[in-house]
Amino acid sequence: MATIDYSQKIPNNVDLKSDKRLQRALEAWQPNYLDWWREAGPTDFNENEVFLRTAISVDKDGWAHFGHVAMPDYRWGIFLTPQDKQRTIGFGDCLGDDAWQQVPGEHRNALRRIIVTQADTEPASVEQQRLLGHTAPSLYDMRNLFQVNVEEGRHLWAMVYILHSYFGRDGREEAEELLDRRSGNADHPRILGTFNEPCRDWLSFFCFTMFTDRDGKFQLLSLAESGFDPLARSCRFMLTEEAHHMFVGQTGLGRVIQRTCELMKEYPDRDVRELGAIPLDIIQRYINYWNSSSNDLFGGEISSNASNFFASGLKGRAYEDKLDVDHAAKNEFYTMDVWENGSLSQQEVPLRNAMNEVLRDGYVEDNIKGVEYWNKICAKNDIDFRFELPHRRFNRKIGMYSEGFFAHDGTPLDEATWNQKSADWLPSDEDRKYVESLMVRCTERGKIAGWIAPPPKGINGQPFDYEYVRF
Ligand SMILES: [Fe+2]
Ligand SMILES: [Fe+2]
Repeated sequence: MATIDYSQKIPNNVDLKSDKRLQRALEAWQPNYLDWWREAGPTDFNENEVFLRTAISVDKDGWAHFGHVAMPDYRWGIFLTPQDKQRTIGFGDCLGDDAWQQVPGEHRNALRRIIVTQADTEPASVEQQRLLGHTAPSLYDMRNLFQVNVEEGRHLWAMVYILHSYFGRDGREEAEELLDRRSGNADHPRILGTFNEPCRDWLSFFCFTMFTDRDGKFQLLSLAESGFDPLARSCRFMLTEEAHHMFVGQTGLGRVIQRTCELMKEYPDRDVRELGAIPLDIIQRYINYWNSSSNDLFGGEISSNASNFFASGLKGRAYEDKLDVDHAAKNEFYTMDVWENGSLSQQEVPLRNAMNEVLRDGYVEDNIKGVEYWNKICAKNDIDFRFELPHRRFNRKIGMYSEGFFAHDGTPLDEATWNQKSADWLPSDEDRKYVESLMVRCTERGKIAGWIAPPPKGINGQPFDYEYVRF
């Protein structure tokens, strides 16, 4: 059933009305969700009509409808890619078994934990970004922010549907707690570190959508392979929406870089700060900060959890079904730089234990493409500056590299050298103050703040000066 039933209180393509108990439970959760949105979601702008994309089917083409809607009236719904009745598990010890339509008892706790951890990031990011509407550099950007926000809300719906449908009372309790935790709250924080970091300015927002949403992409890719079929189908559709979030990050940073390069070219003898743009080295430091923090989200390099999740068919590799490899990954090894007793040495690690690192490899590769895209912008403007992706060992708080100190390029350092040099690599208070000083709202149609270039084209065929948000 690919079409979405919009006549229902909760739009869905899962035939919700045939399960009255579940429908009632989700309809009871819905007002709590809206209360959360009003309390912890975007401050203000809830009366304004925003040009938003809403999912109307799960078909590859034409899955979305665009139109003006006030955010609290957005049709958050439950959409899963259609079931493939022949689907089998594509990896681990259950390779070739039929995919599970129910939660296997022995994996119940692990699956619940995986789902709750993923789900928690969705409302967390909305909370982190809640103030940004006030300093939007253009109507176009403001609309993109709100698009990301409503879709993260929908991703929460997607995960809550799974919790309610398959995890009974525990699932319902988890769904309530997802609305209770708050990003950055000392007593009741969100589960993962990065999702408690404040995102106060738009340079951070673009880094977040570039790097942190991209971690989300890879987590979703691995869950899209899960033997638990409803989770896999849910994540497959979430990935369709997620692509836009990373577009916002990559092109957003690209437009900041473009603006700075234009001014550097026009006024080669001046400090771009005097001209209200963001120096390229500050942009690099923000990249370093958000990228290293997002690297942590993949977890430890050698992990027995990762091994168990893979072995038991819960979490696969990204694009597992397309990889030309032994999908059991049983007696194989992965070569890794292991940090032990203060030095690095290449070691062979059982592949299943290295699955977090395998996922991170794909992430790093994706990020390198983003950095190349930014470097092309510099080159096109004849600016002699190259952005670099920090090494995965740099500035880590989780995993074995968190036990040492590493330069931006991954070279081991002693603590004193790190203390001396880290200020060159990470945003200083002064950097942050400067960036924040530029954050002034610009919401006149067709206008844009001075620190960022306009996009080459608008949304869904509309021009840049379109009324993306109605005031
Ligand atoms: Fe999401
Ligand atoms: Fe996202």
